[in-house]
Formats: sequence, structure tokens, C-alpha cells
Amino acid sequence: MKGKFISIEGIDGCGKSTHVKLLARWLRSHGRKVVITDEPTNGATGRIIKRVLIGKLKLPIAAEALLFAADRAQHISEVIKPALKTGKVVLNERYVSSSLAYQSARGLSINWISSINKHALMPDLGILIDVPVDIAFARIKSSRRLDEFERNLRLQERVRRNYLRIARRERLKIVDNTRSCDEVQAEIRKLVSAVL
Ligand SMILES: Nc1ncnc2c1ncn2[C@@H]1O[C@H](COP(=O)(O)OP(=O)(O)O)[C@@H](O)[C@H]1O
Ligand SMILES: [Mg+2]
Repeated sequence: MKGKFISIEGIDGCGKSTHVKLLARWLRSHGRKVVITDEPTNGATGRIIKRVLIGKLKLPIAAEALLFAADRAQHISEVIKPALKTGKVVLNERYVSSSLAYQSARGLSINWISSINKHALMPDLGILIDVPVDIAFARIKSSRRLDEFERNLRLQERVRRNYLRIARRERLKIVDNTRSCDEVQAEIRKLVSAVL
């Protein structure tokens, strides 16, 4: 495939959307065609997941994990692969590592989550944007309402630890976003340049 698939991971409020936007601006200024996308998607399965996330629908955690995997399959075939085939850079927020970090923090086995995600196309680059949970919370508290996951501070702590634990096996590059946005973005651009 001609394009590049770059996936950004990390807890809520770590800075994914911020850095994706800055990265897209930079890539476009260098003449690259960029697609920004995220999970859960707005597709049929993604919309069910979003009802779960806002507490409108209760499902067993295993069912939730399967929905994320199904949503991902649709995302790959309808959005990611078509964009890659036409040479675009796909900047995606949340992917397999999100499933591993969040669903295992809520009791599922990492190996099982991994097995239901075997279908997923491997990104050319995976970046874990890391900040301590209290910093992420302080940064987002003023700007938007917290969803079900975000409200649970201890869960977020577990998710952050899981991310750091799975970074090696999922080949995620860890970027410390407690520094200034410019400094961090410069590091991210270096990582991206290396795979373009
Ligand atoms: N390096 C940084 N320094 C200070 N604030 C930051 C930094 N990176 C992100 N932020 C701020 O943190 C908040 C959450 O960032 P956001 O990109 O929305 O996170 P996410 O998409 O991971 O949930 C935003 O208000 C953003 O401006
Ligand atoms: Mg975001």
C-alpha cells in the first residue's frame, strides 16, 4: 500500500487530538494528503459503542470488546485501507492498543483482546502520548464534559499503566507530553519523518 498509517494512543486528555491536528497541518504544508480519523467510529457498530460510553446502554465487557473489534474491522476496510491505497497519510486516534489498555483495565485478558484483534492492519507507526492522569484531568476539566471512562480516575491510572506495559509488545513509541506542545510536536514529527 502506498500511504502511511500512523496511530496515536494514550489516556483521555493526554493530547492526541492536539498533536494530530498539528501533525496534519505540517504534513499538508509539505504536500501530503492527510486523513484524520478515530475510534470508535461513527459507523453502525461505533454508534452502539458510543451509547455504551455515555451510559445509555449496558453490555458485558466482553461484548463491548467485540464491538470495538467489529467497529475496527469496518474502519479498516471502509476508511483506512482506501486512504492508504491512494497514497494518503492516515492519522488515527485510538486503535488496538486502546482496546488492550482499556478492556484489560476492566478485567479482560490481554491475550483474548489481542486474539479478537488479529484481523487489524498493523500501523506503520504507533505513538503513545503519555502524561500522568492528574495532568490529563487538569487539562481537560475546563474544556469539556467528562464521559464515563474519564470520570473514573482509578481506572485511568490502570489504563495508563497498561499502556506503558504494552508499549513494547505493540511497538509504540512513547512520547512524554508533560513538556511544551512545541517540543513534543517536534519529537513526533521526527518519528513520523522516519517512516514517511
Ligand atoms: N503539551 C501540552 N501542554 C499543555 N497543554 C496541552 C499539551 N498537549 C495538550 N494539551 C491540552 O490538553 C487538553 C487535552 O488535549 P487533547 O488533545 O484534547 O487530548 P486527547 O485527544 O488525548 O483527549 C487540551 O486542552 C490541550 O490543549
Ligand atoms: Mg481527542
